[in-house]
Amino acid sequence: AYEKDLKGLKVIVTAGPTQESIDPVRYITNHSTGKMGYEIAKAAMLRGAEVTLVSGVTTQKPPMFVDFVPVVSAVDMFEAMKERFLDNDIIVKSAAVADYKPKNVAEDKVKKKDGDMTIELDRNPDILQYMGTHRREGQFYCGFSMETQNMLENSRVKLDKKNIDLVIANNLKVAGSGFGTDTNVVTMISHEEEVQLELLTKEEVAHQVLDEIMKLRAKRA
Ligand code: C5P
Repeated sequence: AYEKDLKGLKVIVTAGPTQESIDPVRYITNHSTGKMGYEIAKAAMLRGAEVTLVSGVTTQKPPMFVDFVPVVSAVDMFEAMKERFLDNDIIVKSAAVADYKPKNVAEDKVKKKDGDMTIELDRNPDILQYMGTHRREGQFYCGFSMETQNMLENSRVKLDKKNIDLVIANNLKVAGSGFGTDTNVVTMISHEEEVQLELLTKEEVAHQVLDEIMKLRAKRA
């Protein structure tokens, strides 16, 4: 049994990749499996929170007793979050949101022609930055950061840039970390401290992240 230390709290988690359509058969995406976010949603539910999981397309099974909101693109995820984020106490943004989307989505399948081709891209909205800059008193924001270089410095910048409380950083180049594995090696970076965790299962990381969030919330109150 879990200690119900999140009882009475509303937690919203985003997970998975986004898909950005090029035409009716093609899209741009990334290697996110959603596993980390699903584990956080499940752990929060087991610890008594009222949980919403907003997820891009993955092969994960949504945890039981969680309000599941499936989305496809970054813009869909943005709409789903705009409707809900102010109603939550803790926001965990583990989704791998595509930074760019095709400028034009072709109505019909794009036919191949001789020679090369170019797809023009537009920036997607930064969902976490939007929420962080529109946050309400008492909310706690946790983002994720995946880097292959200068992980700590690049991740710390996001605390201020996105106006959030905690960044969970993982270095894609560390063995047992990142996409598709059942384990992760992360550093938890807040304004108060930097905590390096050892190699853990994503389930264990999920609980450690919730422990850190609860600890930082308590310090603030
Ligand atoms: O800036 P970067 O993409 O590295 O930041 C990662 C964090 O920001 C993650 O928590 C991710 O979910 C979030 N993000 C977002 N919208 C974007 C890009 C990233 O919410 N367009």
